[in-house]
Amino acid sequence: MAQSPGETSEGLSPTFLELLRLEPLRELTVLDVGTGAGRLALALAPLCRAVVGIDREARQIDEAKKRAAAAGLANVRFVVGDVEVEDYAPFKPDMVVAHLCMSSAIAERAGRVLRPGRVFAFVAFHADQWKETGHPSRFAYREVGARRLLKRSGFTVERLVVEREVATFESVEQGLAAAVALEEKWKADGRWSPYVKFLEEGGRTLTRAHLVVKARKT
Ligand SMILES: C[S@@+](CC[C@H](N)C(=O)[O-])C[C@H]1O[C@@H](n2cnc3c(N)ncnc32)[C@H](O)[C@@H]1O
Repeated sequence: MAQSPGETSEGLSPTFLELLRLEPLRELTVLDVGTGAGRLALALAPLCRAVVGIDREARQIDEAKKRAAAAGLANVRFVVGDVEVEDYAPFKPDMVVAHLCMSSAIAERAGRVLRPGRVFAFVAFHADQWKETGHPSRFAYREVGARRLLKRSGFTVERLVVEREVATFESVEQGLAAAVALEEKWKADGRWSPYVKFLEEGGRTLTRAHLVVKARKT
């Protein structure tokens, strides 16, 4: 998909990266949950003492390992695991980050492992993400829900920003063209037909919306 205004070339929010850079990363071991192919972990590794990326998809972890080796990064490692089941304590993290992989199980585990004063920061899909398809992601939150979850998990919210971008179209064809890179995925997850229907019934928008959050263990 095309890079959105305000995103880095790796598709990471500059606001999110700035919030992380305000922490003493050189002294910290950072745990990146739902790391995928390591996009965030690899961006952070040169700035941190160490980074551990976890994902349940072995193929993604293999790709992340290859990318780390190609970049010559020795302080990052990648592990296959389920971040909604595993205990994070064996990784001894000083900070937990999550990029587009957020759930109450993750926030609770971060709350359990981090000492007071330590940071949990994440980018999550906002509930308005791709609302035109009528299928919110299970990783999606509204502001109030995210705040409630963080409080329950033992965190104080320091920053909570919604980054939103609404593309508008003049025709059905334009709307379809804007989502062409998502067609295969949306056909598989049932979003494509509702989106086509939305356009055919006169809808002319496609919304992308993320929550960018930094919270500190109370
Ligand atoms: C939208 S991708 C984001 C990947 C990466 N953080 C990034 O921004 O490029 C979500 C990732 O979360 C992983 N994931 C989802 N649920 C998970 C779980 N319970 N345990 C481990 N990984 C999970 C998926 O395998 C996928 O790689």
